[in-house]
Amino acid sequence: MSERFSIGNAAKFIDQTVTLLGWVYNTRSSGKVKFLVMRDGSGIMQGVLFKGECEEQAFAEFDRLTQESAVEVTGVVRQSPRGGFEMGVRSIKTVQVAEPYPITPKEHGIEFLMENRHLWIRSQRQWAALRIRSEIMFASEEFFHKNDFVRFDAPILTPSACEGTSTLFSTPYFDERAFLTQSGQLYGETGAMAFGKIYVFGPTFRAEKSKTRKHLTEFWMVEPEVAFADLNSNMDLGEKFIEHIFQTVIARRAPELKILERDISKLESVRGPFPRISYDDALKILEKRGVGIPWGEDFGAPHESALGEEFGKPVFMHHMPAQIKAFYFKQSDEVGGPGVTGNGKYALGCDLIAPDGYGEVIGGGQREESVDVLRRRIAEHGLKEEDYKWYLDLRRFGSVPHAGFGLGIERTVAWITGVEHVRETIPYPRMLNTLRP
Ligand code: 4AD
Ligand code: MG
Repeated sequence: MSERFSIGNAAKFIDQTVTLLGWVYNTRSSGKVKFLVMRDGSGIMQGVLFKGECEEQAFAEFDRLTQESAVEVTGVVRQSPRGGFEMGVRSIKTVQVAEPYPITPKEHGIEFLMENRHLWIRSQRQWAALRIRSEIMFASEEFFHKNDFVRFDAPILTPSACEGTSTLFSTPYFDERAFLTQSGQLYGETGAMAFGKIYVFGPTFRAEKSKTRKHLTEFWMVEPEVAFADLNSNMDLGEKFIEHIFQTVIARRAPELKILERDISKLESVRGPFPRISYDDALKILEKRGVGIPWGEDFGAPHESALGEEFGKPVFMHHMPAQIKAFYFKQSDEVGGPGVTGNGKYALGCDLIAPDGYGEVIGGGQREESVDVLRRRIAEHGLKEEDYKWYLDLRRFGSVPHAGFGLGIERTVAWITGVEHVRETIPYPRMLNTLRP
């Protein structure tokens, strides 16, 4: 089958007559020349209507066209004097003349744009960010497949919590209550014991009441889990994964990064090794930078930013206070010491903090593998042992050290695209007070 023309592959159609199926992005006239800026989903291209070169009919149609009208435009592809490609238009067939379009080139407030999200996604910057999102998701699949991981789908309707009970969404489930998953990890661990290396990839839900630029109530996570792995090999994997995502987007999405005016050299510098520091050492850095917190407290935005300023690179923070981490972490008494099978001061967690305020993009760590310790933790966290019977079974039948992490897709998209708020990194963001469209 011969390739069909699209703006994205215009380079292959130089000097050929093609028909573009798309929409009107903009129109302009200057004297005898008329400009028809068109989009077809794969990109934007300018059409030029010259008297003599273009059919009379096309001039008449041009005058009817409003922003976002649907068109079939036939003409010759050529190199544009301003770089890129343009079309010498011959004829225009109008498919639909659009009603006055609410999103115009003038500035609109965020509330208005969010209400019109279904149309806003056609605008250049939104379009570019979502194309990059798609590439990041593809690059994620690609990375894990190349490294012999099996995709393992965890359920979305679940009977119990993974990340603590405070942010669960619940829903009736016939005669009982179900919760929307906060993370596929616990099921992912069962997969790791069956397949060795797996990744869970899907939407996750948290009833986050916080209104920040990093929190959604529905977000996508990719969660690898590996048997016979520890904290260090987990960080090695995270580092390789991030590098692959960045290199792929730089190589394949240059036009979109340009639309977003992203500084490519900044993205190119995201290469391992990333600094690895303990929570205790991170606290010393916070102290030095005037944003100190007491031992045992979780990091907030100013603290994550301070780490970014200190290193100018993504940083792995490990050995967090056990008291602020979930029940499943393996713990240790000292930083760098061997994991203890018991209660320690530290959880063998590792979070990757992105620079420039994009926050924690990876959260993960090594899991507790002793059935007795885990049973005790479940009780200490006020969870019901019967809900975790199957999870405890993993520690009864061939228990091994294992580790994994979750990478938040939206925060990664924000970091790569330079978009300020995660609401612009997913087609339809779900947040406190945002359920429509
Ligand atoms: O650190 P978190 O809570 O880790 C877990 O859920 C683990 N069970 C994952 C695992 O080990 N398999 O979440 C992981 C990542 C965060 O680092 C962040 O990137 C993203 O998920 N994330 C959110 N993204 C957008 N909105 C939210 N409300 C998010 N909460 C977490
Ligand atoms: Mg976390």
